Amino acid sequence: MLQKVIPYAHQLLKEAIYSGDTVIDGTCGNGYDTLFLSNLVGESGTVYAIDIQQAAIENTTSLLKKHQISNTVLLLEDHQYIKRHIPEEASGTIGAAIFNLGYLPGSDKQTITTPESTISAIEAITEILRPGGVIAIVVYYGHKGGEIEKDALLNYAGSLDQKTFHVLKYEFINQKNDPPFLLAIEKRTQPKKTE
Ligand SMILES: C[S@@+](CC[C@H](N)C(=O)[O-])C[C@H]1O[C@@H](n2cnc3c(N)ncnc32)[C@H](O)[C@@H]1O
Repeated sequence: MLQKVIPYAHQLLKEAIYSGDTVIDGTCGNGYDTLFLSNLVGESGTVYAIDIQQAAIENTTSLLKKHQISNTVLLLEDHQYIKRHIPEEASGTIGAAIFNLGYLPGSDKQTITTPESTISAIEAITEILRPGGVIAIVVYYGHKGGEIEKDALLNYAGSLDQKTFHVLKYEFINQKNDPPFLLAIEKRTQPKKTE
């Protein structure tokens, strides 16, 4: 009955994204979320997939090639600069974004997402997200440095204005070994004036 965290994140994205949309993978890693987004937006849509590591861009490139995907723009860049790469005309139309925090699976764990950069990236995307759009953030925090990022993110997301955003935390609270949880930020379609 209760979906695991990543399938639940994907379900929310499925509901938010339409064919032809422009969407963002903020941490493309090995490319699995990029592939998922790419199939959701279809040939007329575009996925901007970003990662700070060359190895991640290479892994994503080969996964996409294997699946003959051509609607994706791969960016070797720090995600805090994502807005520089999104065309002006797409501002306010972004249907969704996903972040999987932590380190590249299979890597030496030296490069991890950091609170400042992650929050800057999310903040930038909230500005260009369309009403009804969703940002899904899968928070892994069991590694060194993960707790600090988790706390900073909860603090940031919990303080977003409720007139403009719905913020959800989806978490299994009886599992051992710091399982990941989901933060989902939805830009409201009609901001309420009286809340
Ligand atoms: C958990 S992995 C992502 C997994 C990926 N979603 C997948 O489907 O395979 C986290 C990724 O974040 C990347 N990363 C870390 N800091 C980053 C930053 N500042 N900007 C962009 N990517 C970053 C890492 O290089 C790593 O590939």
